[in-house]
Amino acid sequence: MSSMYPYAERYPVNRTMPERGRDRAEILAELDEIAGEEDSVWELGHCSGTMYCGDHEHYAFMARAFERFAHMNALQRDMCPSNTRFEGEIIAMTLDMLNASAVVDTEPAGMVTSGGTGSILHAVLAYREQGRERGIDRPNIIKPETAHPAFDKAGFLLGVEVRRASIDPDTTQGNMDEIASLVDENTVALVGSATNYGYGTIDRIGELGELALEHGIGLHVDGCLGGFILPWGEALGYDLPRWDFRVPGVTTISADTHKYGYGFKGTSVLAFADRSLRNGQYFYVTDWTGGKYCSPGMDGSRSGGLLAATWAAMVSLGREGYTEYARRIFETSFAMQEVVRNHDGLRVIGEPSFCFSFTSDEFDIYHVNDFLRTRGWRLNGQQYPDAIHMAVTRPQTQPGVVDRFATDLTEAVEYAAAGPEQPPASGAIYGGVAGGWSEEADEFIRAVMADMMDRHQGVPR
Ligand SMILES: Cc1ncc(COP(=O)(O)O)c(C=O)c1O
Repeated sequence: MSSMYPYAERYPVNRTMPERGRDRAEILAELDEIAGEEDSVWELGHCSGTMYCGDHEHYAFMARAFERFAHMNALQRDMCPSNTRFEGEIIAMTLDMLNASAVVDTEPAGMVTSGGTGSILHAVLAYREQGRERGIDRPNIIKPETAHPAFDKAGFLLGVEVRRASIDPDTTQGNMDEIASLVDENTVALVGSATNYGYGTIDRIGELGELALEHGIGLHVDGCLGGFILPWGEALGYDLPRWDFRVPGVTTISADTHKYGYGFKGTSVLAFADRSLRNGQYFYVTDWTGGKYCSPGMDGSRSGGLLAATWAAMVSLGREGYTEYARRIFETSFAMQEVVRNHDGLRVIGEPSFCFSFTSDEFDIYHVNDFLRTRGWRLNGQQYPDAIHMAVTRPQTQPGVVDRFATDLTEAVEYAAAGPEQPPASGAIYGGVAGGWSEEADEFIRAVMADMMDRHQGVPR
């Protein structure tokens, strides 16, 4: 799709509330047209991450489950005990997958949140509240700098300082000495990723657990990306380090049902080794005129549809289904990594598995990305060092995708190695939004974000 704003030219723009409603069939036809075109962007398997499932039959099945419960409000449980069942079973199945049975002294529990960021926000909230009980009023958490910006967002929103430790450039794992040196009496938790988004590598969770236990603090493992695929990779015999509740010291794990759990966007599980840590972050108001109010998470009303669809996805796949898809994804990812390794000028970073990143010490890797884009690939750009990454998902496991990657990458390397005169057009932007940003340009970044939101709103500017 050439433009971020293609529809203004094709369809009427609603800048005010329409006087009369439109015909439903016409609306649905318009939506079908748009969705069909947008699906074609990823259906060939050229897009990193994002479309983890990509199976239209599975989507239709989940849509059916969603449809039956979409109008229900998970906040009003007396009217829909089904939602309690869905949520409880989603949590129980996830705890099982994360080996919560290895937890001995405490009682594991969980909550369903709105996504990876939601789970991370709730984890940081739980540690902040636990710290407060211990008399810490200026809490900090420590993350390897590769951990997702959602931790920084949580710090920003919740008033928790986020200390960043550097990584070992070869392994891309957080530097343990530096992490240890950053711990002080106000540290409430450490963070490690399994895997991180950028490199697809797993931090030294065992050592982080030892450090956490030594200081009596929490350890959150961010399994938003890897949580629903690494367990099956382990079952398949891939050489992966342990990172779940079997590792002493791990106190919370985020695992996204809306990524490799193959649910619709809008759900994730935050798993706790200790129920009391979860319970400590619950919010309630007992003296409101509207009645005593309590909600289990940051959201108020929530659609029961997402819970039903996520539950349906999980029980329809089971261990067998997840493991089979994971097998295809791991095989495809290692085949794509082999393609990259066949080029002397390219270097795979660290020891990744289903998601990998590569760079070049010889030419500009963004020129490689520029060329790949002309062939319809959408890999994500990274920085420090400049690199591009591919989170392999089910669309890549279709026949022919690895071969196309091999052919297109060879040409892309030739293009980059020839040293094109023009500077690369692609850059290190999460999610593939337009390039050209610099980290100093606060005003510019805000303007780009605002433009994305406002362009169709007719807001006077
Ligand atoms: C490792 C990791 N953590 C957290 C997140 C944030 O997840 P979400 O975008 O669902 O909020 C992501 C997203 O890709 C991720 O890869």
